[in-house]
Amino acid sequence: MPLTVLNHALADHIVTRLRDENTPPEQFRPLTRALTHILIAEATKNLPTRPRVIRTPLEEMEGRELGVEIVAVPVLRAGLGMLEPTLEMLPGAAVGYVGLERDEVTAEAHSYYCKLPNMAGKTAFLLDPMLATGGSAYRAAKSLYEAGAERVILLCVVAAPQGIARLEEAFPALQIVAAARDRDLNAKSFILPGLGDFGDRLYGTF
Ligand code: PRP
Ligand code: URA
Repeated sequence: MPLTVLNHALADHIVTRLRDENTPPEQFRPLTRALTHILIAEATKNLPTRPRVIRTPLEEMEGRELGVEIVAVPVLRAGLGMLEPTLEMLPGAAVGYVGLERDEVTAEAHSYYCKLPNMAGKTAFLLDPMLATGGSAYRAAKSLYEAGAERVILLCVVAAPQGIARLEEAFPALQIVAAARDRDLNAKSFILPGLGDFGDRLYGTF
């Protein structure tokens, strides 16, 4: 199942507030944080687990713990807004960074930074709130697979059909967890209805 779209009342509520053009950065940031918690809960739902014997204050029991090593990889800059809430949920995760920026005219993503830890056999949580043409996520996921990642899960807020199709074709095993699947892209490759430029709204750079 490569694409999962959240089906969750609170997530819908948060996405609607993120979309609202009257939501200022000081509200946009905590909303992003809360939504990322829900995305992480969904993205980790079916991860492998292994048994772990512990003692409660009353008796010994066999619990379960995550059986994979996770690397959180935000795509700069907008994905940075999803990093801290990811680490709150997964404090043992390592962190890598991928810097990508779309050309304002061509919408082609170019890379300006890449710093990854050892990815061999790891589960990568690629954090990028907007999946539009898919160019940025394609380049980021390619770097992760080339570095040896066993599993790549893209977490995004809004995904457009064009970006979903591009990733499904390039990486059939890649999983996408999105809070919303939108209708289309406009002539400048912005998502419709979307929420505008996520990075600008997160950081107040209008
Ligand atoms: C945005 C967004 C994604 C990319 C998605 O980044 O955060 O990385 O666009 O578009 P695509 O699917 O067409 O590649 P942007 O290039 O605006 O950079 P920023 O995060 O620094 O604002
Ligand atoms: N990046 C954004 O931030 N928003 C879009 O709609 C498309 C790409």
